[in-house]
Amino acid sequence: MKNLLLKSIALLKNVIFLIRPNLFLGFLRSPSLFFSNVLSLTKWISEQSKDVIFNDYFTFKRDYLKRYKLYENIVAKNNLSTEAIDYIEFGVSDGSSFKWWVNSNSNPSSKFYGFDTFEGLPEDWGFTYDKGEMSAPIPKINDLRAEFVKGLFQKTVPDFITNHKLKSEKKKIIHCDADLFSSTLYALSMISPFIQVGDIILFDEFNVPNHEFLAYEIFTRTFYVKTKLIGAVNNYYQVAMVVTEVPKNSLNLFTLS
Ligand SMILES: C[S@@+](CC[C@H](N)C(=O)[O-])C[C@H]1O[C@@H](n2cnc3c(N)ncnc32)[C@H](O)[C@@H]1O
Repeated sequence: MKNLLLKSIALLKNVIFLIRPNLFLGFLRSPSLFFSNVLSLTKWISEQSKDVIFNDYFTFKRDYLKRYKLYENIVAKNNLSTEAIDYIEFGVSDGSSFKWWVNSNSNPSSKFYGFDTFEGLPEDWGFTYDKGEMSAPIPKINDLRAEFVKGLFQKTVPDFITNHKLKSEKKKIIHCDADLFSSTLYALSMISPFIQVGDIILFDEFNVPNHEFLAYEIFTRTFYVKTKLIGAVNNYYQVAMVVTEVPKNSLNLFTLS
């Protein structure tokens, strides 16, 4: 029975490869991908517990400044104003959120790393933002704990990881604010060996189905990382998650050698 099923599937696949339906149905690729991701996103929303400490779902009004209320809440509930942390921001631009985090934590052992091309988005983001938009000069910050890494993540992160200090046991706050699917998935994948239970991951444009949400879905499925929502504003546009499960020994690979 199983053999027959496998043979039928193989035959069907071969017929599809021969016909190449993309030639006449190719126009459906983008809308069907978008629709599929919308369904996954709304499924994810339906699964979120109502007792999350900070969540404005459902609201008709989007107020971008609410993200600072979310940060305040996360800092207060997790004692992050005094604990030593590693704050890693992917997508800095003019440094608005980066500066907020530097100012919110007083521990001298904390470190703040900001990654950006500072020459804008490396590719178009949907229909609304073109490649090169959001460029900004490297922010000026008078705090020796802060460090910016200029360049494409895909060029700078490997060296940073090899030479740098993410091996510490400090709680990490990983802020994904690069908007794009590719950048978000790349950043999370590269940093995954350093992620520990209790670390916090923030997203700034989470409810965009084809971008940060899709990157989150693929990342958590691929790396067997589990997270729990701990705060959200603007109908899950900005969210905070705590890491609840990582594959065993992933950090040890780096710390024990
Ligand atoms: C929305 S802005 C960041 C906003 C900032 N965090 C704030 O508080 O307003 C997104 C930034 O991500 C950067 N970015 C996106 N993909 C990148 C990549 N692959 N490498 C480097 N920078 C990237 C862009 O240059 C852009 O400045």
